[in-house]
Amino acid sequence: MTNDNDGNDKDTRGGWRGALRALIGRNEGEADDDAGVPAPAPSPQKRGNPARRARLIEALIGGLPQPAIVLDREGRVITFNAAARGVAPALRSGEPALIALRMPELVDAIRRAGRRREQQRVEFFERVPLDRWFEAFVTPVTLPETDGTQAELLLMTFNDLTPLRRVEEMRADFIANASHELRTPLAALLGFIETLQGPAKNDVAAREKFLAIMQQQAARMARLIDDLLSLSRIELNAHRPPSTSVDLAPLVRQVADGLQTLARDRQVEIRVGVPTDPVMVLGDRDELIRALENLVENALKYGAAGKRVDVTLSRAQTRAGAPEARIAIRDFGPGIAPEHLPRLTERFYRVDVADSRSQGGTGLGLALVKHVLNRHGGRVSIESVLGQGATFTMHLPLHTAAAPLP
Ligand SMILES: Nc1ncnc2c1ncn2[C@@H]1O[C@H](COP(=O)(O)OP(=O)(O)OP(=O)(O)O)[C@@H](O)[C@H]1O
Ligand SMILES: [Mg+2]
Repeated sequence: MTNDNDGNDKDTRGGWRGALRALIGRNEGEADDDAGVPAPAPSPQKRGNPARRARLIEALIGGLPQPAIVLDREGRVITFNAAARGVAPALRSGEPALIALRMPELVDAIRRAGRRREQQRVEFFERVPLDRWFEAFVTPVTLPETDGTQAELLLMTFNDLTPLRRVEEMRADFIANASHELRTPLAALLGFIETLQGPAKNDVAAREKFLAIMQQQAARMARLIDDLLSLSRIELNAHRPPSTSVDLAPLVRQVADGLQTLARDRQVEIRVGVPTDPVMVLGDRDELIRALENLVENALKYGAAGKRVDVTLSRAQTRAGAPEARIAIRDFGPGIAPEHLPRLTERFYRVDVADSRSQGGTGLGLALVKHVLNRHGGRVSIESVLGQGATFTMHLPLHTAAAPLP
C-alpha cells in the first residue's frame, strides 16, 4: 500500500476521491470513471477501482442515520455523510480530521485507533452552540485490494447522547425534588413526636396544637404521594386517548361550585361564563375535573389580590382550523414574570417556593394539567402580564357529531 505519493495526486484531482485514491494505492493504469478527470495512461497491473470503491463508501455511510466520517490512516478526511456536518460543520474532504474535530478526546481516539488497529470509544461534550453529549466510535476498517494489498481506513460514527442525558438528569432532579418535598413534612412530624414524647408529654394544650400541625403535615405528604401517583397513571395512559363523551358546561360549573369555600376564604368572586348548549369533548371526566380544579385553585391562591376570577368556556378554532373547546381561567392578581412561563409546567417548578408551600402547594399541579391535556390531544396555554394577572387556557379538541369515536 502506498500513501506517501498522494501530494500531487490529491492536488491535481482535489477532494476526497483523490485522497482515497492515494490512500488505497491507486494504480496509475487503472481505468478512471471519475467525470472530468483525465484518465491516466493504462498500465498492465490492475488494482481494484478506487473511484467505484469511494462511491461505495459514500453510498454506504450516506445511508446511515447517524453521523459517519471515513478517514485514511493518517487521519485525513476521505468522505463523510450529511449528518456528520451537524457534529463538525468545518469538515472538508482531504483535510486532516483534527482541523474540524477539535475535541482532544476525539483526536486521541483517532490516533489510538490508527496505531492499535482496535475500535476506540470516547464520550465528549460540546458547549457551543448548545450543550450536547456524544459518544464516538473510531473503528479501523481494512479493505482488501484486488492485488492482494490492503487499504486501511478509519470509520468514525457518532451517537447523540443528549436526550438520554437529559432524561437521566430529569430523573435525578425528580427524585431529589420528591425526596426533599417528602422529607420536609416528615422531619416536622418526627420533631413533634419527639417533643410529645419528651418535654410536652403532659402539656395538654401543646399536645392539641402539635397534633393539629402533625395532621396538616401528614395530609401534605399524603397529597404529594397522591399527586405523584396520578401523574404516573396519566403518563402510563398517555398513548390511550379517552373515548367517553363529556359535556364541559356542567363540569365547569361543578368545579367552580366546589371551590366556593376556598373563594370565600380568599375573598375572591368566581364568575362563570358557559354557553347554554353542550360543549362536547372526548375525555376522562375525573382527569379533566382535576386539571380544571388546579387551575381555578391556583387563580384563587396566587391571584387572590385581584379579587376576581373569570372561568369562561367557549368554542373556538385551532390555528389549523380544527374546532376546539377552550376553558380560560383568568385572574387579576400579580401575574407571572415572562422568564417563568416556559418552565411553569415542569414538575415541582414554583415561582415562589415559600409562597406555594405556605399554601400547601407542591408544584405538581400544572405538570398534571399539562399531562391531562396532552392525553386528551389538547394543550394548555399561559398568558400573563406582570401586575395584571394571568390567564391559563385549556384547549381540547371538540367532539362534533360528525367526528366518530376513535
Ligand atoms: N394564577 C397564577 N398567578 C400567579 N402565579 C401562579 C398562578 N398559577 C400558578 N402560579 C405559579 O406557578 C407555580 C406552579 O403551580 P402548580 O399548580 O404547578 O403548583 P402549586 O400550586 O405550587 O402546587 P400544587 O398545585 O401541587 O398544589 C405556583 O407555585 C405559582 O408560583
Ligand atoms: Mg397548583
